[in-house]
Amino acid sequence: MADRLGGLPALARPLLSDLAALATGRNGRGGVGPLNIDDVRARARKRSCALPFSYVDSAAEDFATHRANLRAFDEVTLRPDLLTDVRDRDRSITLFGRTLASPVLLAPTGMPGIQHADAEFAGAGAAHAAGTVFTVSMASSHSVTRIAERCPGPLWFQLYPWGNADDFTPYVELAARAGCEALVVTLDTPVGGNREADIRTGFTMPPRLSRANAGEVLRHPVRFGRWIRTLAAGPGIAMGNIAETGVTGGMNAVHQATKFEAKFVPGFSAAELALVRRLWDGPLLVKGITTAEQARRARAAGVDGVIVSNHGGRQLDGLPASLRALPEVAEALDGTGTEILLDGGIRRGTDVLKALALGARAVMIGRPWVWGLAAAGRPGVDTVLRILHTEIERDMALMGVRTLADLGPRHVNVPAAWAYAAPREASTTLAP
Ligand SMILES: Cc1cc2nc3c(=O)[nH]c(=O)nc-3n(C[C@H](O)[C@H](O)[C@H](O)COP(=O)(O)O)c2cc1C
Repeated sequence: MADRLGGLPALARPLLSDLAALATGRNGRGGVGPLNIDDVRARARKRSCALPFSYVDSAAEDFATHRANLRAFDEVTLRPDLLTDVRDRDRSITLFGRTLASPVLLAPTGMPGIQHADAEFAGAGAAHAAGTVFTVSMASSHSVTRIAERCPGPLWFQLYPWGNADDFTPYVELAARAGCEALVVTLDTPVGGNREADIRTGFTMPPRLSRANAGEVLRHPVRFGRWIRTLAAGPGIAMGNIAETGVTGGMNAVHQATKFEAKFVPGFSAAELALVRRLWDGPLLVKGITTAEQARRARAAGVDGVIVSNHGGRQLDGLPASLRALPEVAEALDGTGTEILLDGGIRRGTDVLKALALGARAVMIGRPWVWGLAAAGRPGVDTVLRILHTEIERDMALMGVRTLADLGPRHVNVPAAWAYAAPREASTTLAP
């Protein structure tokens, strides 16, 4: 091809060769790759059967909290430090004494095996390669033991707030045996959220054939067939930790899911958290904190970190955006040494910088890594992290910050309507 274009003017040559490569599909890139996280989501949507895709996209009731999570990042604007030499930028952080190459951690998400057979192997592998943490959900597809065998970590483990200590204690021990470095107790799930979207698409746990999902099967038989092959090739709907703890072992996947759901007894209180604290020597975090009062109680219970989170809007609809709750939590924990993380709606590098400026040490991503997994397995998760890291590095330069520790409330404008939550002396308010 290059020879035949030899006589053309210099400017036209690359353009024509690109056009030819596109037409023949031989440019090796298949056109423009995903430019951002929304593009990755679009790819996942195109490839996936509607049932697993809508499970990831889903949120509780009217999606008010989920929408607020995303909108809050637009409401906060940035205040750069120009005239700064930003040739050398460092996006690493230190968390619980460990240096991580990235402030973006992978949040616990249950049953990624319904998206791709590699499930957590892809997520934990990508996290390891990127120098960050992968958090294994208690409802993981592969067991934490198998994940730890395949992926060097760092791994954290997430525990659900089951009311019965005899039920959750074996999971704490399992996480310790697998070498997990931190334990995350998710407090915002005493019961499951009301996800009507899942009921409409017919995505139930355990799965059942219904009029709703039968329609999808008939409309998109190819995608449905691909999904069935995905389920057959990997863990499918199985939950790997269950058999290993022996709590509900020795059953098929449908029975596991049923038993798992039945363990959600809403009795996890301060006494249970205190027991977890006694059982777990390493860093202990609680996930689902949205107010200063909760943050203080968690601190009093001896936790080392809190995750400001509303479960991606999937639990109590009507909670504030995570970003909006963050300044209040940061103020309550100021000077205590308690680490603060945030998740919910992180889609851009600027989102990460805004969260860090308002008091978070690090952020977590839930849906984005699962979209990457659904779109392309391990390379898809790698792509998600690469996109965010490229954006963070560019945004640090544009903001005039060399290290993430340089970020503070002076780098953001917070809406006046947030004044209750925002530490007023430390941040500038905008007119409403
Ligand atoms: C498909 C899916 C499964 C999830 N499963 C869990 C889980 O097992 N445990 C948990 O603590 N949070 C779970 N979450 C919530 C995430 O950890 C995280 O809080 C949320 O996804 C962050 O919002 P984002 O999706 O906008 O990044 C899940 C979220 C999704 C999307």
